[in-house]
Amino acid sequence: MATVAIEGMQWGDEGKGKVTDYFASRAEIVVRSQGGNNAGHSIEHHGVRYALQLLPSGILNKGVVNVLADGMVINPIALLDEIKRLKGQGVEEFNIKISNRASVLLPYHIELDRVREAALGKAKIGTTGKGIGPCYEDKASRCGLRMGDLLEEEYLIERLESSLAIKNRELAAFGGKQFTVQEVMDALKEAREYLAPYICDTSVFLRNAVKDGKKICFEGAQGALLCITHGTYPYVTSSSPLATAIPVNTGLPLTAIDDVVGIMKAYSTRVGEGPFPTELDGDIAKAIRDKGHEYGTVTKRPRRVGWLDVPQLKYVAGITGIKHVCLMLLDVLDVVDEIKICTEYKINGKVIDYIPSTVMELARVEPTYISVPSWKEDISGITSYDALPENCKAYIAKIEELTGTEICMVSVGPDKDATIIRKEMF
Ligand code: IMP
Repeated sequence: MATVAIEGMQWGDEGKGKVTDYFASRAEIVVRSQGGNNAGHSIEHHGVRYALQLLPSGILNKGVVNVLADGMVINPIALLDEIKRLKGQGVEEFNIKISNRASVLLPYHIELDRVREAALGKAKIGTTGKGIGPCYEDKASRCGLRMGDLLEEEYLIERLESSLAIKNRELAAFGGKQFTVQEVMDALKEAREYLAPYICDTSVFLRNAVKDGKKICFEGAQGALLCITHGTYPYVTSSSPLATAIPVNTGLPLTAIDDVVGIMKAYSTRVGEGPFPTELDGDIAKAIRDKGHEYGTVTKRPRRVGWLDVPQLKYVAGITGIKHVCLMLLDVLDVVDEIKICTEYKINGKVIDYIPSTVMELARVEPTYISVPSWKEDISGITSYDALPENCKAYIAKIEELTGTEICMVSVGPDKDATIIRKEMF
């Protein structure tokens, strides 16, 4: 397989960072294609924990080219901070290419995110507060700036003038802070100077790389259910994390992606608002949350926790065509006696095995569960599938049977070594 895409199959935080790091160590190029610093990969690499937000995970592997592609929203100030933070942790090589088509996320987008969420009150989305939605809105309404604009000072000032003329009105209406062009230019100065040499047409680079048969990993950010079109709208992010969106977000043809590997946790989590049919509370939720360190990488919010939801996973596998899956955080489930799996939903007396398209219906579904016993022992040191406890293998086989996918990798702990490979995908 020369190219592989990674897609989170739930609401993000499935453990994509670990899989990307594994694939990145075999890749020549790692690509991020959408989202911004709302994403947060935690990666345990050679015993050190790194939190990546904008930089692709290949940054931890020497010799890998890391591409921040066309569909991303990039906060240049946050990107520079991330680079400085990684330098402080000993990362020496910043082999990066930043798309000149990617959108620029600026301080006023963050302020707009804040005032909008406050104005929504109880109806808030529960965003990460990083300005992602307002930046994508500007892209769609054609008053946004692109990374290439940072290289042309006169044009940059013109674009900022016209954009701020609109944005400041909105900020004033919400009682938010307004911005001057000079203020934004000053805030951007250091980042513009530092990042300028890395800004280029990444789609030309990537098309040539595909033609040359380079090994490319397209890492996913967020998760399928946060997709702006196919997720649990309006409680979603403002881009599409689906692997099927990668071609348009990178400037590559459909044929450029050889396979898609889905990433699912052994249970479900979500941050932010929105219906969550298999959500748990009480002691079981707390035990899973604590053992799985289920607190946001970006916002540190405690994540909501629930059982695995097969109708959702089948839906996601169906819309992307996922056949191979990495099952993450399996070790966490030894804290419970009994594991439940939601196999189907009931709504208005009807049984369905897919996720309804509106949040009103999703809030009304009643999950039907089956139960399987947990293994109640530490599996984090196990490195072969055969050595797993029988109950653990039975849980894996049940997930495969119910979702119609093949589990090619099982993660039993945060370390790179705590991984069981059943089939090499890349
Ligand atoms: P936004 O992307 O900051 O606008 O947030 C919109 C929704 O997506 C909120 O529910 C966030 O918690 C969620 N979200 C965005 N990025 C991530 C992520 O990387 N992991 C998990 N949830 C995310």
